[in-house]
Amino acid sequence: MKYLGKADPQMERLIKLEQKRQAETLMMIPSENIVSKAVEEAAGSCLGNKYAEGYPGRRYYQGQEIIDQVETLVIERAKKLFGVPAVNVQPHSGSPANFAVYTALLNPGDTLMGFSLKFGGHLTHGADLNASSRYFRSVPYETDKNGYLDYDAIEKLAKKEKPKIIIAGFTAYSRILDWKRFSQIADEVGAYLLADISHVAGLIAAGVYPSPVPYAHIVTTTTHKTLRAPRGAMIMVTDIGLKKDPDLAKKIDKAIIPGIQGGPHMNTIAAIGVALKEDSTKKFVKYAKQIIANAKVLSEELKKYGFYLSTGGTDSHLILIDLRNKNLLGNTVAEAYEKAGIVTNRNSVPFDPNPPFYPSGLRLGTPGLTSRGMKEREMKKIAVWMNQIVEELMKIKEKKKYTMDEEKKKEVRKEIISQSKIIPNIKKEVLALCKKFHLKTSY
Ligand SMILES: Cc1ncc(COP(=O)(O)O)c(C=O)c1O
Repeated sequence: MKYLGKADPQMERLIKLEQKRQAETLMMIPSENIVSKAVEEAAGSCLGNKYAEGYPGRRYYQGQEIIDQVETLVIERAKKLFGVPAVNVQPHSGSPANFAVYTALLNPGDTLMGFSLKFGGHLTHGADLNASSRYFRSVPYETDKNGYLDYDAIEKLAKKEKPKIIIAGFTAYSRILDWKRFSQIADEVGAYLLADISHVAGLIAAGVYPSPVPYAHIVTTTTHKTLRAPRGAMIMVTDIGLKKDPDLAKKIDKAIIPGIQGGPHMNTIAAIGVALKEDSTKKFVKYAKQIIANAKVLSEELKKYGFYLSTGGTDSHLILIDLRNKNLLGNTVAEAYEKAGIVTNRNSVPFDPNPPFYPSGLRLGTPGLTSRGMKEREMKKIAVWMNQIVEELMKIKEKKKYTMDEEKKKEVRKEIISQSKIIPNIKKEVLALCKKFHLKTSY
């Protein structure tokens, strides 16, 4: 780093350490990805110096000639890629994007219905403690005992509770959503259907996961997951959204500013535009196909080793492992994997008997690995390591006779993990794999 090294060596050092961590470990958190250097350059550009409250042609500050062109270009790219008539590219991230939609369409106390956080939905879909349930009345829906969405139960709940918005989307669900069924349910009760495609936006853009655009009135997405753009979000209004309410796009724009945000992050928005250009290529379609192929192979291999997967597998980039048959907490396994350079996250599973901070599951995904060029062969290797570590942890825990409650203590988990003989060897193998599939700089 040409300038940072001189100006702030302390910060440069930390950034370099994080660069090294990313280069030397397997990024298997399904909501993460690796952007290209072109995207990084735009994100770090001078556009971040500019205040641009308002929208193209309607700003509150002078000096917007170039900024207006930037935002318009990004909007046009997003409209084309997703086939929608209106897009707001200003949300600072996914959570404010969802909140803006609620404030655009609901009054405080109105009812919204989303996928329960404990079963695979997102915090902003009406979870306890989140503003979406504090300012609105939240009536969450759940899954059946196999982890699948139960559309008949969702319909029954919608008819009983009459929500004004139904949110279809997930953060820990591996299957294809039935957008059509969701739209039928929303129509039956006169609700808006909001599809939050944050996790699968890249797969949808590539045409390898069904699009909600023909069925939902509004689509929100984060940009930093499978879409492989920087941290941000977009709100799209569809043709059927405009048919239901011709002012819908205007209401969304107003909800963002002056509703809940001030100036847009123009550097990030430009970088999202660069990524959207990358996402429109045949190469990206190939990449998105490989993400799913990798996830399918990884899940089949894990099943062969006796891992129980929620819903029994995946249709996407995401896998949710239920560790209850292994008698280990998600915390222990995630921490042990991290020691070996395999970075995942602990997660609740449907009907989890353990609390969200000490859940029984592990969530993982393949976008980051696939961005490095890894394919089926590498997934098989990773599954072997994941199994070897879990088998050894089970034996150590069994020998020490630790209970589940004791395992909730950090010292106990440390003690279990420190006795592993296999983790240091696997870490070396992970490092060798990472060196072979180094972080790419262009896509
Ligand atoms: C489905 C879904 N919606 C919204 C969000 C919120 O995004 P952010 O973390 O950018 O606020 C996430 C993030 O994980 C998500 O998975």
